[in-house]
Amino acid sequence: MKEAQFSIMPQVRIRPQEVSDADLFFEILTNLDYEFIEVPIKTLEDEIRFLKTNDARRKNNFEHNYSILYDGKLVGGCGIRIDQHRPWVGEIGYFVDKAYQGQGIATEAVKQLEKIGFDELKLQRIAVLMDIRNIASEQVARKSGYEKEGIAKKIHRIEKEYYDCFVYAKTR
Ligand SMILES: CC(C)(COP(=O)(O)OP(=O)(O)OC[C@H]1O[C@@H](n2cnc3c(N)ncnc32)[C@H](O)[C@@H]1OP(=O)(O)O)[C@@H](O)C(=O)NCCC(=O)NCCS
Repeated sequence: MKEAQFSIMPQVRIRPQEVSDADLFFEILTNLDYEFIEVPIKTLEDEIRFLKTNDARRKNNFEHNYSILYDGKLVGGCGIRIDQHRPWVGEIGYFVDKAYQGQGIATEAVKQLEKIGFDELKLQRIAVLMDIRNIASEQVARKSGYEKEGIAKKIHRIEKEYYDCFVYAKTR
């Protein structure tokens, strides 16, 4: 496994998402730039419903979602979705409050998330796919030591339009 090349940020930690995170998540997602992603959460009720069903997704080894805390404050979310046909493969995703972006928070969260993926979930491969226009996300993958494997065409959908993604991955 390749080592990530960035410094430790002790003020950043991730923990499983809680239903009581709903208000802050909804606020963060409402203010986020949605240029390169589609978020299915449109109302606070959607967010609460999503958080309430997290436990089932975790128990079924479908998705393991975490809150990102900075100095104890909720500033984002991240997670690993398990490929149901290849349960040794996970795909990570992340978002950070607009007001906290550009400080290395997503990069630190990825470091903690991938440790869970490789050490606890016993994954052999962790991938991250981002819209080819999503420079910030690509930079997070690069800084975290993920290797660019290529382009997955039309794998990403935003409002009925299909877009290409870069595929980055790290293996154990
Ligand atoms: C992607 C995202 C999570 C990054 O969060 P973050 O905490 O700002 O990430 P980091 O600070 O760890 O790293 C971001 C890097 O991108 C760089 N960056 C951001 N926007 C950029 C741009 N337009 N051009 C070039 N670099 C850019 C930052 O400078 C930083 O790199 P650096 O440390 O080398 O300077 C955040 O932008 C976000 O939430 N975006 C919306 C959701 C999303 O797209 N998620 C990813 C889906 S695949």
